[in-house]
Amino acid sequence: MALGNRDVIPLWYGESDVKTPAFICHAAATAMEEGYTFYTHKRGLPELREALADYSQRLYGLPVGADRITVTSSGMTAIMIAMQVVIDPGDRVILVGPVWPNAEAAANIMGGEVCQLPLRYEDGETQSWHLDIEYLFAMCTENTRAIFINSPGNPTGWMMSTREQKEILEFCRLRNIWIIADEVYSRIVYDRLVAPSFLEVIEPEDSVLVVNSFSKNWAMTGWRLGWLTHPPSFAKPFSDLIEFNTSGTPAFLQKACITALNDGEHVINDMVDLCREGRDIVGTAMSEWPRVRYRAPEAAFYAFFALEGMENSLKFAKQLVLDVGVGLAPGTAFGPEGAGWLRLCFARDSSELSTAMDRLANVFA
Ligand SMILES: Cc1ncc(COP(=O)(O)O)c(C=O)c1O
Repeated sequence: MALGNRDVIPLWYGESDVKTPAFICHAAATAMEEGYTFYTHKRGLPELREALADYSQRLYGLPVGADRITVTSSGMTAIMIAMQVVIDPGDRVILVGPVWPNAEAAANIMGGEVCQLPLRYEDGETQSWHLDIEYLFAMCTENTRAIFINSPGNPTGWMMSTREQKEILEFCRLRNIWIIADEVYSRIVYDRLVAPSFLEVIEPEDSVLVVNSFSKNWAMTGWRLGWLTHPPSFAKPFSDLIEFNTSGTPAFLQKACITALNDGEHVINDMVDLCREGRDIVGTAMSEWPRVRYRAPEAAFYAFFALEGMENSLKFAKQLVLDVGVGLAPGTAFGPEGAGWLRLCFARDSSELSTAMDRLANVFA
């Protein structure tokens, strides 16, 4: 409705306004000139898979062999091919929600029976979103094939603990259930270097697929590049699925990803600083709006907040665009539990964000 309208401040998408740093762009251009323009390895250039293995090793201090890594054409594609490997029609897939809607769509395309387990929101001093693990286990019927967990979470910013990861892993091992762990926000964290990862608790052959992406960390949303970490024995099925879905990712883009991984740690630090500043601006504004229920997230770059008296979040978000020129995402986009909620992406330039807060104050204050 308002896409491309310059009068509207777009806080609806899950991306920052930071351009991909020049040194990463140059690496792609150089690789193109050097002739990285041909068909390529289905599961990714060996040197990129090695660089990803090193990146994992650096972050978690644990070896992850390149045989466990498949490069994909985005985090979204990683989720899609994960579902293609795991889900047959009629299989139950449980999603911890509220969650980015594409995960549910991917499970639906495969004919999965999708159920969402909502996190519980509590106004508290610390973490505000809680996972009821016992309830999650109770939802696992005979036909349950996979649990999809996005931590740090979009839209909530919920971050799963290592203890919770271990408990779920133990349960899934016994019940032969796959875990699809979407960790694309693992580096957008405010009190540590990286969020707890399933990679730290699994054995290589565990039935766990970990999704990650270049999009959020290195300001590369438009490049469409991600990766999957999977059991080594699944290299062949993933190679086949890449062949039939995308036939691989442009080699010159992959070369630039190696540069991002090896020389781009400061890009992630800057991204987190930008998000932290955005989180502060939004938090200060929201603390003065009595109808708004909000706690700053521990991770990811979204303010997900409830608004008293709002009945239809989609209708409300559309009206907000017309009335004050700020674009937010309606809570219902993330599942039925999101009815009274709105999502705002704060990974943006601070002056633009302040203007957006001034405009929103006309409605929320
Ligand atoms: C939770 C989550 N997972 C995966 C993705 C996919 O990211 P991309 O396809 O840009 O790599 C997104 C993007 O918004 C997301 O929010």
